[in-house]
Amino acid sequence: MPKTFENITNIVLEAADKARKEIDADKISSYVSAPVEWPVECTVGPGLEGAIACETKIGYVSGKQGNLVYRGYNIFDLCAHSTYEEVAYLLLHGNLPNAERLSEFKSKLAEFRYLPKTLRLLMGFPLEDMNAMAALRMGTNLMRQHQTERDLMQAKVDRTKVISSDDDSVDTHEKVRGEQRAVYEFRDPKANRPARRKAKRDLQQAKGVESCYHLIAGVSTLTAAIARIQRGSLPIEPDPELGHAANLLYMMTGKRPTREAERVMDIALILHADHGMNASTFAAMVVASTLSDIYFSIGSGIAALNGPLHGGANEEVLKTLREIADPKRVDGWYASARKNRRKIMGFGHRVYKAYDPRARVLAPLADYLVNKSGDAEAKNLLKIASGLETRVVADLGASKGIFPNVDFYSGLMYSSMGIPSEMFTPIFAVSRVAGWTARVLEYMKSNRIFRPRATYVGEISRGFTPLADR
Ligand code: SDX
Repeated sequence: MPKTFENITNIVLEAADKARKEIDADKISSYVSAPVEWPVECTVGPGLEGAIACETKIGYVSGKQGNLVYRGYNIFDLCAHSTYEEVAYLLLHGNLPNAERLSEFKSKLAEFRYLPKTLRLLMGFPLEDMNAMAALRMGTNLMRQHQTERDLMQAKVDRTKVISSDDDSVDTHEKVRGEQRAVYEFRDPKANRPARRKAKRDLQQAKGVESCYHLIAGVSTLTAAIARIQRGSLPIEPDPELGHAANLLYMMTGKRPTREAERVMDIALILHADHGMNASTFAAMVVASTLSDIYFSIGSGIAALNGPLHGGANEEVLKTLREIADPKRVDGWYASARKNRRKIMGFGHRVYKAYDPRARVLAPLADYLVNKSGDAEAKNLLKIASGLETRVVADLGASKGIFPNVDFYSGLMYSSMGIPSEMFTPIFAVSRVAGWTARVLEYMKSNRIFRPRATYVGEISRGFTPLADR
């Protein structure tokens, strides 16, 4: 194994050892439940906290222990010994791929990474003025260029029977009296309509695993293209020789990454790939549960991930570290943040009340890269981060279960790789699209449209007051 790979793998293995010493691994399996007998009793807090929405075999987040498992494999083992392609395949199909399956999967991703038409459409928009996640969400919708099977079925409705507007009930073939033509006249579907494109492959039916592969490949191409276009450069075609992590960096920078940078990005993509019923995964599943299609689902996952309480936190963390500016100011900054009941970005978690296992890997990786870079500003930010972590954990760790989460060190790591902060969250999406698509596919096997309740606490029978008397 090349020296640099060895360095990085050793960092992961050391983090794993440290975690295993603190986590009672045997306790974890006792938390995994037997198949659910619906309906289930669960105590539900605001924001559906504690609500059980479905069964899954895809991933398990052990909040008490601070442990994360994908399809039964511990995240530390996957980071140390596998690649993002293997993990994405694992999440989608339930098993790690053998060499033959992996090479088939990789060649599918290589094929789907080419998005010339989508990028041509995307470049028609003022991306330099847009939020990168807004551009990414639009890009995934543009990937769904072809009419899907469902669109084609809906289009088969004979529109000549459709009333063209509310107030007339004549067949739209008749000219509406007094008008040259109805304002919203539907064209006769038979008259000179371009021959409907026949859905050529299951991709266009916007269902099935091919669309998931298309999106896993495409979100990385879109992210890299958006990064370049926003900085005034043209997108770069993927290199079929490179893997997923390396291609992401190559398409962003135009330079083949070092093996070390490739390995670090691969581990970051593995760490962010899936995480239970987090807000963006749930958003993607809710959209899919209406039988909408996977492209719209992933678009809603991207929309949810954009929020600073969710995926956008790593960008906010860098802003916090820059705001503190000096390790000596950490205590004063923290005291005023607590006084103003300010949420400290990169800390706390709805599920983890222990150290986020992903932060256990990202922290030493950030430390390694920042110190290797020799960049004085980055080293200063790292010192501030470590001082802030000590301060927050001492104050809120044991008492409130507030520890660093996945976002606290990822920003420092990405910026030491030369990645601009506005691309941190899109890179989160590049990884999470595997978890989103896997959980949508799994849920659709026994789909039931999501429809929770709200407790009505308003007035119930008010007498109507006419406008004149209001
Ligand atoms: C991700 O769900 C997932 O799995 C998400 C994720 C994934 O992989 O998909 O893990 C990715 O989203 C990581 C989280 C990134 N967000 C941040 O770092 C933003 C800062 N964190 C907080 O906003 C908060 O911790 C949340 C949103 C992450 C979780 O919030 P909860 O579970 O709704 O907790 P809460 O807001 O109800 O807070 C409970 C208490 C409150 O104190 P009291 O009012 O009871 O006195 O904990 C305090 C909060 O004030 N608290 C914090 C805090 N987080 C919680 N206090 C200071 N700083 C914080 N960061």
